[in-house]
Amino acid sequence: MGIEECLLIELPKITDPRGNLSFIEGGQQIPFDIKRVYYLYDVPGGSDRGSHAHKNLHQFIIAMSGSFDVVLDDGKEKKRFHLNRSYNGLYVCPMMWRNLDNFSSGSVCMVLASEHYSEVDYIRDYADFIKQAKGDHHVG
Ligand code: TYD
Repeated sequence: MGIEECLLIELPKITDPRGNLSFIEGGQQIPFDIKRVYYLYDVPGGSDRGSHAHKNLHQFIIAMSGSFDVVLDDGKEKKRFHLNRSYNGLYVCPMMWRNLDNFSSGSVCMVLASEHYSEVDYIRDYADFIKQAKGDHHVG
């Protein structure tokens, strides 16, 4: 899987004068079943989150409120995505180094994940990630 698999997905939006509604069903709008939801909030301006990759985890990241950037890196190419709408989300496939920055004040980052939390699924060392990503791509 490469960075081209990681796409901004526009979610269904039921507009209503009483307030809009969007929804996500596992395996429908996003390409995995949802096992876990977590969220980042009270993020101080200027802070960075992420800086790791996951071996097997699929994730879908949404700016539920405010905005932030997600920088993805598959070991060959980097792409910056700006998230600022609660009806858009970013699908992040396994083996993708990610960094989250540029948080606006009061922003809330919600993440849907394909597996329960597992520290052994993390790659927290960038050099290690590059080694493993190259192995996956059968280069070098
Ligand atoms: P981490 O994923 O490293 O944070 P981020 O990528 O947002 O910077 O997680 C931070 C801490 O929270 C770490 O000690 C593990 C814990 N954690 C859980 O216990 N459960 C979870 O679902 C997540 C995402 C993190």
